[in-house]
Amino acid sequence: MTVPPPTGGARPKPTILGVGAAVPAQLITNADLVARLDTSDEWIVRRTGIRERRHLRGSETLAELAAAACSDAIADAGCTAAGVDHVIVATITPDRLTPGLAPAVAARIGARDAGVVDINAACCGFLYGLDQAAALIESGRARAVLVCGAEALSRITDHEDRATAVLFGDGAGAVLVGPGAPSGRSIGSFVFGYDDALADTLYAERDEPKLQMLGQQVYRHAVARMTEAVQEVLERNGVEVGDVDYFVAHQANARIVTAVADALGVPHEKVSFNVEWTANTSAASIPLALAAAARDRHLRPGSLVGMVAFGAGFVWAAGVASWKDT
Ligand code: ACO
Repeated sequence: MTVPPPTGGARPKPTILGVGAAVPAQLITNADLVARLDTSDEWIVRRTGIRERRHLRGSETLAELAAAACSDAIADAGCTAAGVDHVIVATITPDRLTPGLAPAVAARIGARDAGVVDINAACCGFLYGLDQAAALIESGRARAVLVCGAEALSRITDHEDRATAVLFGDGAGAVLVGPGAPSGRSIGSFVFGYDDALADTLYAERDEPKLQMLGQQVYRHAVARMTEAVQEVLERNGVEVGDVDYFVAHQANARIVTAVADALGVPHEKVSFNVEWTANTSAASIPLALAAAARDRHLRPGSLVGMVAFGAGFVWAAGVASWKDT
């Protein structure tokens, strides 16, 4: 990887240098669900914006999927796996209870000398990983950090429950974080929050690992907390709504994303609605949406991207990040 040399004591500016994505081959359309559940394509699209999702097949592993996304991100950054200092994987659905996913991912991509760690923060996990990667780069403790969000929510979905079975999907997305141009922007400081009193609105028990959700309560709090978190993070970083080139909110439901965008006054053409093709993939949803935005040229060299998430905990997070300069 080509990284700028240290500049006389100036702290490196962490930047997203590459992005990658991978989804399972097995496609589950709304029509597939209509064939076995009391639901309709019209209901699912109107209430959620979701048209399709992907599910791992029985023998496929999440480690393989996450590794594919990570290799893609490394290649996009023009880096090699041998240069990766840390692999941080955000997931609530690792292949095994322990070990976590990160060692298997690092081994598969050939990041032999990397530190490896998993983060369990539901839909906010990727943003926690990004914050930690930025801190490692900024402090000079690392030169290249992979942050991956990977989920197989199909493993913890009650496929007979129409209220939740339509909502969740599997996938993996990753970014490589490293020092950007000294004159460029950087990954800014983040806002994080939680409310343990709402933990029972969205959870899965260890003995019965199926997602349970009070949909309307989650919806209401998600819109309020995500809107506030974006306002706070923009203020903290001295950025106006209009300075942000593209917004990626956690892809749970298109109506939630629309409500947050409208409350903030963000035009919809600057907002990701990737949920249509992925459904809710928890920690993977933001990096999958970033990869789609880069592919569709919504994110260009030097862009500033705003990100916000909410999820089980109840937890929320928001941040702004600079996109690679070249
Ligand atoms: N098809 C048809 N009808 C359905 C379906 C379905 N798939 N699911 C529920 N319904 C019915 C309900 O039974 C109900 O029927 P009734 O009026 O006869 O009782 C009716 O539709 C309305 O149900 P609501 O739950 O009130 O529907 P709502 O408009 O709230 O939409 C939804 C439900 C989409 C779940 C919404 O509440 C939502 O998106 N909530 C947030 C979910 C979320 O974002 N979770 C993310 C966190 S995931 C994580 O962190 C891992």
